[in-house]
Amino acid sequence: MVEFIDRFKEWVSERTGFLSGSDKPPKPKKPIERKDGEFEDSLIIFDHYKDAKKVVDDVIPARVSKFDELIRDRGIERGSTILISGGCGTGKTTFGLQSLYNGAMKGEKGIYISFEEEPKKIKKHMKNNFGWDIQKLEKAGKIAVLKFDPTKISRSMEEEILKTSGGLRIPLKKIRLPFVPDRVVVDSLSALSIAFDDKENYRKYIRKLFETFEKINSVNFVLAETEQDPTVYSRTGTEEFLADGVIVLYNLKKNERRENALEILKLRSSDHVKKMVPYKITNNGIEIQG
Ligand SMILES: Nc1ncnc2c1ncn2[C@@H]1O[C@H](COP(=O)(O)OP(=O)(O)O)[C@@H](O)[C@H]1O
Ligand SMILES: [Mg+2]
Repeated sequence: MVEFIDRFKEWVSERTGFLSGSDKPPKPKKPIERKDGEFEDSLIIFDHYKDAKKVVDDVIPARVSKFDELIRDRGIERGSTILISGGCGTGKTTFGLQSLYNGAMKGEKGIYISFEEEPKKIKKHMKNNFGWDIQKLEKAGKIAVLKFDPTKISRSMEEEILKTSGGLRIPLKKIRLPFVPDRVVVDSLSALSIAFDDKENYRKYIRKLFETFEKINSVNFVLAETEQDPTVYSRTGTEEFLADGVIVLYNLKKNERRENALEILKLRSSDHVKKMVPYKITNNGIEIQG
C-alpha cells in the first residue's frame, strides 16, 4: 500500500510539477534572459506596453538631418510604423541608427533589433564611420542593440500555428524589452521574411508585430532591402500596405554617376513634401541637401 501511495505521489509529481511529499509549489518558469545582445527565445511580441501610454508628446522627430522639415508636423506620430525601403548601400541602417543616436542624445530611448548583423559589428561600424558611440549610450540605458534569430522566429510561428490549427488568435510568447522605447528600428524585414517558407505565416507575424508596435506607442522604422530602382517596396507587398508610412531611399544613375535621393511616398499622420529630395552619406551620416 505504501508503495502504491509513493507511486501515486510520483505520478502526481510528474504531471503537476509538485514535489512528491512536499507542499512546495512548482518552480516558476525561468524568465527569458538576454545574453550579450542576443535573445535565446524566438518571438518578439513585447510585454510591457502598459507603461507606454504615459507620454505627453504625440509626435517624435526622426532627427535625421533635415528630414523633419519635410513633414508638416515636424515628426512622426507615436504608434506609427514606417517602412524604409531601398537598395543595398542606400543608407537604411544609417538612417535608423542616426535617428536612435540623435534621439538618445536628447534623452529619448531607442531599441535596435537586428535580424542579421551582430550587435558588436554594428556598433563598431557606426563608431568608425560616423563617430557615434552607441556602446556608451547602451551603457547609459538610452539605446539597446538586440539580435534575434529569424529562423527561430519562423519555426516557433509555425509551431504556434499548428497548435492553434491555423486560427488567427495566436498566443505568441512575449519578451520583455529592457525599457519602453520612444523609437524602434527593425533591420531588416527582408532578413526576417527569407526565414519563412510559408509567406502567409510571415504576413501573420508582421501583422502581429505591427500591432504590438502600435501599442508600445513608439515611432517604429522597419527597414526593407529592395532592388536599386524599386517598383515594389517590400518582399510581399503586405508591409507597405500595413505601414503608416513609406520612405524610399534611391540610388539613381545620372551621367555615369550615382546620386542618392529620398522620397516620402506615404505618411498617414501628416502632410509632407512629395518630391524626391537629394541626400549624401558623409562622415556625419545622412545629410539631406538643399
Ligand atoms: N563616413 C562615410 N562617408 C561616406 N559614406 C559612408 C561613410 N560610412 C559609410 N558610408 C556609406 O554608407 C553606405 C552604407 O549605408 P548602410 O546604411 O549600411 O546602407 P544599407 O543599410 O541601405 O545597406 C555604404 O555604401 C558606404 O559607402
Ligand atoms: Mg543595412
